[in-house]
Amino acid sequence: MTTATNKVEIRRGLMGVYFDRSDSCFIDGTVGKLLYRGYDIHELAENSTFEEVVHLLLFGKLPNRKELDAFDKQLRADRDIPDKVLDIMDTVKNGHPMDVLRTAVSALSAFDPEVKDNSEAAIIRKGLRLTAKAPTIVAAHDRLRKGLKPVKPNASLNHAGNFLYMLNGKMPSEDEMHIMDVDFILHAEHGSNASAFAARVAASTQTDLHSAVVAGIATLKGPAHGGAAEEVMKMAEEIGRPENAESYARNILDHGGRVMGFGHRVYKAEDPRARHLRDRSHTLGISKGQPQWFEILAKLQEVMKPYQAKGIYVNVDFFAGSIYYLMGIPDDIFISIFALGRIPGWTLNVAEQYRSNILIRPLTDYSGPMDVPYTPISKRN
Ligand code: ACO
Repeated sequence: MTTATNKVEIRRGLMGVYFDRSDSCFIDGTVGKLLYRGYDIHELAENSTFEEVVHLLLFGKLPNRKELDAFDKQLRADRDIPDKVLDIMDTVKNGHPMDVLRTAVSALSAFDPEVKDNSEAAIIRKGLRLTAKAPTIVAAHDRLRKGLKPVKPNASLNHAGNFLYMLNGKMPSEDEMHIMDVDFILHAEHGSNASAFAARVAASTQTDLHSAVVAGIATLKGPAHGGAAEEVMKMAEEIGRPENAESYARNILDHGGRVMGFGHRVYKAEDPRARHLRDRSHTLGISKGQPQWFEILAKLQEVMKPYQAKGIYVNVDFFAGSIYYLMGIPDDIFISIFALGRIPGWTLNVAEQYRSNILIRPLTDYSGPMDVPYTPISKRN
């Protein structure tokens, strides 16, 4: 019996591998810089709305007033989901919100008139319809599983405000709407992260956008990717009081564990998105009379300071969970909120993949036995 002897360089996790070019998103992880289509994330988070950012990502330009009004009007008009999709969601309502979102997006493909059209214009139109409908899915599912009637979309509210309205069945405050809007902006796109890469791999086989977005949702769900916000808040709840944070974190680290919300494959400096959520976690905590969550997180940051020498800083998920929690959002919906923000990013990645498509099909270096003599079943031990 021989073994394979190929000597090849293996880059596990495709770490540091460039597989294509992109003009959507620039990240310099060494200094914590993030640009969408050339625009600094800080300027977008401070000055734009999610609707403007979606237009920027999918059409390559910040819209003027007239363009934004028409674009926003279309997004608002596309929010409804078919009753038959609601029926499917009702059947699977006991599943995790991400599983229900994945199922509902999959089901929506049967109702999209352009499902088979993979032209760039159709991909963008479908991506926008999914962007508009996904909040309705997440909010309706939460109500169905609580035995409540889904709340119809409210066309007088913007994307973020309407999501909170449908979820909670009451008008959100201006402050809450703004925080959710910023949160969606921060999550909208992030280069070839695991879920966008999964969507690209799917698209590279020339499948349709809905299938690629389903792959993105499935991949985002894991705790190493989108699931960290939920884990961070669970950790904060377990810690309970700021004075317990240090011993809690030390216990994890001393046992070789990971403190959730820290570390990133690309950022070896602070994730630039975290800044905007940190300030809001602080102020929202004070205004809701629950400052302890921010205090616990701030204490954890202090304990983790020595790890900065290894390039481990807070990531976007670290403060996000506390914000959602303070807005009364159930913790298993935190990842779904990430997905709602990221649908434009997945759409953009799929459109880019299609623009100059090549099947994505890497190799694994075989390290098992070779040419094993076959044993008939009667002679096997
Ligand atoms: N806490 C403590 N140590 C950590 C952490 C952490 N959160 N993250 C990484 N490290 C350490 C690792 O133990 C490893 O140490 P070693 O070299 O001594 O073995 C070193 O840093 C490198 O870690 P890797 O896992 O090799 O780095 P990778 O780039 O593969 O991982 C990841 C990135 C998965 C995000 C990791 O940092 C992690 O698990 N973080 C916690 C989960 C999390 O917050 N995920 C959200 C990511 S952001 C997003 O998707 C939106």
